[in-house]
Amino acid sequence: ATPSSLPIKDCTSITPPYPRLLKTLDQVRRVLPKSTKLTLAEKILYSHLRNPEESLGGGGKIRGERYLKLRPDRVAMQDASAQMALLQFMTCRLPTCAVPASIHCDHLIQASVGASADLAKSIDQNKEVFDFLESAARKYGIEFWRPGSGIIHQIVLENYAAPGLLMLGTDSHTPNAGGLGMLAIGVGGADAVDALTDTPWELKAPMITGVKLTGELSGWATPKDLILNLAGRLTVRGGTGRILEYFGPGVTAQSCTGLATIANMGAEVGATTSTFPYAANMREYLHATGRGPVAQAADEAASKGFLQADEGAEYDEVIEINLSELEPHLNGPFTPDLATPLSSFPGFLSENNYPTVLSSALIGSCTNSSYEDMSRVASIAQQAKDAGLKSKVPFLVTPGSELIRATVERDGLQSTLEDVGATVLANACGPCIGQWKRDEKKGEDNAILTSFNRNFKARNDGNLRTMNFLASPEIVTAMAFSGSLNFNPVTDSIPTPSGPFRFSPPTGDRLPPSGYTPGDLSYAPSPSPVPRGETEIAISPTSARLEVLEPFASNFKGGKGELPELTCLMRVRGKCTTDHISAAGAWLKYKGHLSNISENTLMTAVNDEGGHINIANDGNGEDTIPKTMQKYKQRNEPWMLVVDDNYGEGSAREHAALQPRYYGCALILARSFARIHETNLKKQGILPLWFVDKSDYSRISAFDKIVTRGVDKLLDGSLQGDEVVLEVTRPSGEKYEVRARHTMSRDQVEWLRAGSALNWIGEQARR
Ligand code: F3S
Repeated sequence: ATPSSLPIKDCTSITPPYPRLLKTLDQVRRVLPKSTKLTLAEKILYSHLRNPEESLGGGGKIRGERYLKLRPDRVAMQDASAQMALLQFMTCRLPTCAVPASIHCDHLIQASVGASADLAKSIDQNKEVFDFLESAARKYGIEFWRPGSGIIHQIVLENYAAPGLLMLGTDSHTPNAGGLGMLAIGVGGADAVDALTDTPWELKAPMITGVKLTGELSGWATPKDLILNLAGRLTVRGGTGRILEYFGPGVTAQSCTGLATIANMGAEVGATTSTFPYAANMREYLHATGRGPVAQAADEAASKGFLQADEGAEYDEVIEINLSELEPHLNGPFTPDLATPLSSFPGFLSENNYPTVLSSALIGSCTNSSYEDMSRVASIAQQAKDAGLKSKVPFLVTPGSELIRATVERDGLQSTLEDVGATVLANACGPCIGQWKRDEKKGEDNAILTSFNRNFKARNDGNLRTMNFLASPEIVTAMAFSGSLNFNPVTDSIPTPSGPFRFSPPTGDRLPPSGYTPGDLSYAPSPSPVPRGETEIAISPTSARLEVLEPFASNFKGGKGELPELTCLMRVRGKCTTDHISAAGAWLKYKGHLSNISENTLMTAVNDEGGHINIANDGNGEDTIPKTMQKYKQRNEPWMLVVDDNYGEGSAREHAALQPRYYGCALILARSFARIHETNLKKQGILPLWFVDKSDYSRISAFDKIVTRGVDKLLDGSLQGDEVVLEVTRPSGEKYEVRARHTMSRDQVEWLRAGSALNWIGEQARR
């Protein structure tokens, strides 16, 4: 029997639209060759196509080649990235979102002394941001999870995830929800706005890696060790452009929350997302979290062949892992793919001269705070307590949600942990995202152990010299009692007054034996809230962190003609990622304030004329690149950039397109673009063009005046081929022409004409 003490939820808005998905899948099967066998990932993706014929028709290779135009079912946003997503959504002036959405206040909560004091302080410090998010949620009918309710991915798993669903989330660990047999994909705010406005969301059909799991986990080995091991094999790039689809008897033998941990860290190998076939473990979890109706609907969809791969479906590669042979792993420091089995860890530390003294142990987070994790950890703590031991180092526990916290507290697990020295932090990201106020190791080499998912430099406490080794919560906890990284809890003993003490392997419950308890009920928003259009959006005109985004004006008078005459601002040399275009770090606090964050635009880019970083010239003397852009903006003088190969590689950060547009950039001419960034430029109304002859890159210089020829025909649809011409006039009066190529689809031409994709969406909605 499945324990469930939670009331059955209203599942109307959270049950996937299975009849529609199955109908689309039927159309897909008619478009594809008859013999095609589909993987689970393909079934979920293709059942969300807006037009199967357009995306899949015509024969030829699909994976890695075709662009799929999809209709996601849901959007989830965390408090940092939701700001710009909502500010952009507001510019379309739509009354509500096209799909159900939720906002989660988790990233802005700083961990310092403990849950309630930290929460109160962070709410006070970030009040204007939380007030803005809440007001936008009320106006547009978005479910708002206020600070303290929990971490986005845990709340999604407990409330919104469902087999077969396609969800976008504005956070890289969104794939966590794949533990419930769905596709959950981490995206930037601009993609989230696509889904919120019912704009087709484009994804290049991913390659599919099959991961076959055999055997069974036992002893100290956990789902975390599986993904730590896989990260070591695949490296941080091994999953790029791929979905990891798990199958085999080892999948069904694990808990649903364990599968979520595996899916969560698929992000560490760069995978688009991870998923698993629907099975009893998912059904049990749905019932336990009050979603029996979703389980029933999923059972029915599965009986029609939807929620598993076709027999004989082919993967682009298959990796096999025998769970029975899996050893606990510790990954790091500084990269999640540096995997070392527990038994080799002391040797690894000594070879590299790394510290062996543990300085802090941290468990929980969105990766590892399930009831199963906490009950197994408590079994270790209980053994230690019985042996008279206490944690030798600060031992911090981050519950993933109020549901977990309250259930763990009710069942006495929390007090067991506190009895051995644990501090329970707020239900929020805290130390996982650098929101950890920790002064004692400032600037010193030191080693911490966490059950989190990332361990890049300075990620946890801001100290570049803190080495974070990732491990299962069980290993982190056991090691906290020894205080030494050389301690192997499987084989070693800890001295106590009554003799050497050795841990037995952890034990625990997959689901709470008496069901979950919701805890503070006021955290849960009402499902499918009605949009309150009369709500005033809370943004103070004097705020430094939030600013209403004004729609960008179109560069075309009357929606036709050529671009206005442009001045070349500079030629950007070499590698220029979205980090170069819009730096992160301290600038993140301005994510909701376009004019403030724009002051970092291209500040680490190299000017090809002179070779200096962050130097440009507006004709009146040298200045920083953003200041030069500001001067052009003040003069109302539109400009263009010449850039090198793969411009805009890196993340999907929409600020990298918004900021140049804000300063008046109308055209970017590249040797080549990174695709996502190129699309982001188009969305913001900037025309990206490619050199037909890459050697023309060095011909155009600062102060040259550029007039386009052929853009008028691009707008009215009469352009033959994909080339336009740039007529360039040097300050000396010398004239020459450069040929360039566009990649604009018909829809994207409309975005350009309207000034931005959101202007176009708004115009259409008002018609
Ligand atoms: Fe938060 Fe860390 Fe997860 S930042 S969303 S707990 S990866």
